[in-house]
Amino acid sequence: MGLVIAIDGYSGCGKSTLAKALAIRLGYRYIDTGAMYRAVCWYALQQGFFDNRVLNQSALIQALTEISIQFKYNPQHQASEVFLNGENCETSIRTMEISSLVTQVSKLPEVRKKMVELQRRMGAEKSLVMDGRDIGSYVFPEAELKLFMTADKEVRAQRRLLEHQLKGESVSLKEVMDNLEYRDFEDRTRSESPLIQTVDAFVVDTTLISKDEQLNLVLTELKRRSEEHTSELQSRQYLVCRLLLEKK
Ligand code: DC
Repeated sequence: MGLVIAIDGYSGCGKSTLAKALAIRLGYRYIDTGAMYRAVCWYALQQGFFDNRVLNQSALIQALTEISIQFKYNPQHQASEVFLNGENCETSIRTMEISSLVTQVSKLPEVRKKMVELQRRMGAEKSLVMDGRDIGSYVFPEAELKLFMTADKEVRAQRRLLEHQLKGESVSLKEVMDNLEYRDFEDRTRSESPLIQTVDAFVVDTTLISKDEQLNLVLTELKRRSEEHTSELQSRQYLVCRLLLEKK
């Protein structure tokens, strides 16, 4: 049995990049919980539940029983992709439009309840890296390693802008920056499991460090913890993790 690694933090800090790299390194599954909220938002959009960019909350809440979300591993990308009612929506959910509407969906307690149940089921087998906003604080408060990621707003906005540009989407830096600020605010202040930095989280500030440096920082922390385990069970879990790291 492996560890649960929970990664939380602000939008655009590089959570999914680090989560993916960690999962590949450890041979763990990676689950992007933001993709789940985005997929529900995409569904709501397709169903016409947004009127003038305002979500009809009760229509979506009533339709929740019709929604099924799955992740399937794509060996080409070495990562899981999200499917909504059997349809791969991995590309459709990464647009600026979804980014600008998704908080109306992710703040609904009914939506969160359904997503969290699913996330906990996926985490039951451990050996998992999961990223989001409430993973270490609410979904898996007992996670063996909690990371809290942060970075300067300008750096985050530049990175997100580049992602949109690479996909051929024309957006301005200001649009991206406004969206990040808006989502950070909404994520931190919503009543249902808001984004918080837990006291036991290991903070990774990605402003000035490369992706490889971020990965090495976390692997070093994992090795350090494998020597400082607190319980018999954790000691065994960390030992397996350490052997995995030493093998590669
Ligand atoms: O990580 P992301 O930008 O793809 O997430 C999309 C939105 O979903 C984001 O605005 C916050 C929300 N979210 C959340 O509320 N809880 C999570 N565990 C993950 C994402």
